[in-house]
Amino acid sequence: MADGHITYTEDNLTDAVIARIRPDADPRVAEVMTALIRHLHAFVKEVRLTPQEWEQGIAFLTELGRWCDDKRQEVILLSDVLGVSMLVDAIANRHDASVSDTTVLGPFHRENPPRMKNGDNLSPGAPGTPLEIDVTVCDQDGKPLEGAQVDIWHTSAEGYYDSQIGDGEAHFMRGRFVTGPDGRVHCFTICPASYPVPHDGPVGRVLAAMGRGPMRPTHVHFWIKKPGYRDLITHIFKDGDPYLHEDAVFGVKASLVTDWSDGKLTYQFRIPRQDAA
Ligand SMILES: [Fe+2]
Repeated sequence: MADGHITYTEDNLTDAVIARIRPDADPRVAEVMTALIRHLHAFVKEVRLTPQEWEQGIAFLTELGRWCDDKRQEVILLSDVLGVSMLVDAIANRHDASVSDTTVLGPFHRENPPRMKNGDNLSPGAPGTPLEIDVTVCDQDGKPLEGAQVDIWHTSAEGYYDSQIGDGEAHFMRGRFVTGPDGRVHCFTICPASYPVPHDGPVGRVLAAMGRGPMRPTHVHFWIKKPGYRDLITHIFKDGDPYLHEDAVFGVKASLVTDWSDGKLTYQFRIPRQDAA
């Protein structure tokens, strides 16, 4: 054996990899990569990952990428079902109780929903139980905000978004409103349903292997934008839904669950100013 050469072992490999990050690397890149390497190595050691399991992991990640296209995002789905998306949301939206809670955007928002005005119907002719939506957009102090853009979208009574029905081109069960001086958005639609996240791919296999279901509890999505204020991306959930305690993506927050038993979804959203702490 020649002298002066390093042998990498279980004990020194982690530090050796971290030490290769150049001192002039971007400080945030260095911070993130150092932690990533440290945690990844600790994970491999903790579970004593076998070569066969490593191969399986590589095949899984490769398959994740192959499932992705402009209609399907399997990597975000993995992040969602592992709770990472909601963890990032929780860290980014630490705030006091005077503003509304956020939750995941999900993959079904569309860029140009039909423009609507108060009193319109989001889902004309769609079969299902009628639902009235009556929400108000306010600032942190409860003052109604005029000129807020409010996108609303939800599933059919069978649990499908418009993009999952037929050729996916038609827009319905969604609309874009702008609030007037009273901050209010009022429209008619049909009650959506609980639905499974896409589970026919590699993420579905992981869920099944863990003995977990793919269901999300019944909800309506809202994305509220107003210049000078922070965007609010959230859902309102239907109280009594059997999947509220096992949301596949962990998106439920108690403040976002409301009673729709009288056929009406009402809520007062409070959005923080852009410069709020
Ligand atoms: Fe959804």
